Amino acid sequence: MHTNDIPARQPTRGRDTAVPRATLALLPVRIFFGVTFLWAGLDKLLDPTFLDPSAPTSLHAQLLEFARFSPLGTLIRETLPLSSVIGLLISVGELGIGIGTLTGLAFRVAAAGGFVLSMLLWLTASWATHPYYIGADLPYAAGWLALAIAGHGGVLVPARFDVARNEATPSRLSSPTRRERRAAVAAGRQLPRVAAAPPSPERRLLLQTVTLAAISAALASIMLPLRVAGILVERAGAGTSPIPTGPGGASTPTPISGATAPPGSIAVGTVSKVGRTGAATFTVPANAPAPLPAGDPGVIVRLADGTFVAFDAICTHAGCTVEWDRADRLLVCPCHEAVFDPEHGAAVVSGPAPSPLVALPIVIDATSGQILLTSRT
Ligand code: FES
Repeated sequence: MHTNDIPARQPTRGRDTAVPRATLALLPVRIFFGVTFLWAGLDKLLDPTFLDPSAPTSLHAQLLEFARFSPLGTLIRETLPLSSVIGLLISVGELGIGIGTLTGLAFRVAAAGGFVLSMLLWLTASWATHPYYIGADLPYAAGWLALAIAGHGGVLVPARFDVARNEATPSRLSSPTRRERRAAVAAGRQLPRVAAAPPSPERRLLLQTVTLAAISAALASIMLPLRVAGILVERAGAGTSPIPTGPGGASTPTPISGATAPPGSIAVGTVSKVGRTGAATFTVPANAPAPLPAGDPGVIVRLADGTFVAFDAICTHAGCTVEWDRADRLLVCPCHEAVFDPEHGAAVVSGPAPSPLVALPIVIDATSGQILLTSRT
């Protein structure tokens, strides 16, 4: 080697390729969260009612309910006119969070997004859940925070998505210093060619975030025709579903078949919507006339004989919202496990609830298949 030669700088060694055990331990959480958020986004985009403010199961109806007890109630009411836009942003955001978490594309941005979304859900949808540890959103938020801090560690991530690895392994020789340049000129030698500087880690993360947003938006736009098809099927189903007759009974609300809607009736569901799963939820509109429980969640159930009943979904024990157990065909409270039987006027089957769920009067419009909530008077 000539003494005037500029010693070639060795690229710094890449980081240790061994994956920390803690990163591997987070892999099941990462996969579960990624798949769950991806599915949640697709589910919302394919639901023909989620973005329709007039639908009883829409985000709009859910926000109305959340506003009753959430500490963000004022903000929720202010944003109600934008509920469809918010619903679309949530759906696309969940797609992006799921894709980023599973692939490693803008991973930390996706995990931070999951944390923010879970916290918002905790402050709205889960706020009334007591005790707090049986709600799902707070544990999700904690899990997302752990993923955002730990990163993906390069596990199951294409090399080009790995910002940290690219940062630790320069793709070029370093630029010569001024002294090296002077020595090279004095020796009549050419300076080594320097490759263009690679983008900074921040720039790479920004590019990845933009790419992730574009992929999510593209996927959402593909869902749109499927959603429109779902709406058409829904409407066709509403027009052809047989309308059942009511059984009557002292404790069971009696739907009226083929009725002309009484004045002031409020559409809260459709026969076809309930028929798919055996039950459908709705929110009693905030402007519902007394004594209807304005703002309360409600549930419509299709009974074994094909008739329909509706109940206030507020548990009579401590006010949690009951859920439909499709397998056992019962209404179950997630808080202290009270169980109600809709076949018998929502009578208490087990648990601490002191009384049945409150029955809500409904009428079925035979022409449209709509289920209408009526005033008791
Ligand atoms: S609130 Fe306690 S069982 Fe429902």
